[in-house]
Amino acid sequence: MKTYIKLLGLVLTLGIVAFTVKNKEEETLTKIKEKSIEQNQTGITFPKDVKAIIDAKCMNCHKPDARNEKAKKKLQWEKVPKMNLKEQKSFLGDLSEVLEDGEMPPEKMVTRKPEMALNLEENRVLITWVELELERLKGN
Ligand code: HEC
Repeated sequence: MKTYIKLLGLVLTLGIVAFTVKNKEEETLTKIKEKSIEQNQTGITFPKDVKAIIDAKCMNCHKPDARNEKAKKKLQWEKVPKMNLKEQKSFLGDLSEVLEDGEMPPEKMVTRKPEMALNLEENRVLITWVELELERLKGN
């Protein structure tokens, strides 16, 4: 009987934790959605949650003073807002592929520094943002 009650407690706790994590994720996604709709701008926008992830996990190799020449040449985040609409759409398309395939950060770096990998939530936030931005820019 005691074991049964302990087990029940454990199951309940796990349920509550899973529920809280899920809710937090939904909250973030809703915020991004609202932000992206409310900003009635023509170009790509970077909501705060998205920017935080990019700064933490994607900026190092893709900034003007990055040591990685190849990465720097392929993408510099600070140039994105200056692209024209066509370039921005094409960039979002590339970004979507890269995220869906889990190509970034590159495997070599993730093997060396596992903490640099995008976790599931970060990946979902970025993918949702890219999809919403593509949808929004389509009309322009
Ligand atoms: C350790 C360095 C490093 C980090 C961190 C990194 N990248 Fe990259 N990225 C590269 C390199 C190197 C390339 C060029 C790959 C190639 O051309 O083969 C690249 C290319 C890209 C491209 C262009 C792909 C194409 O073929 O058009 C995109 C988009 C991109 N990265 C997005 C990201 C995102 C999003 C993140 C964060 C989740 C990220 N990168 C983090 C090194 C990095």
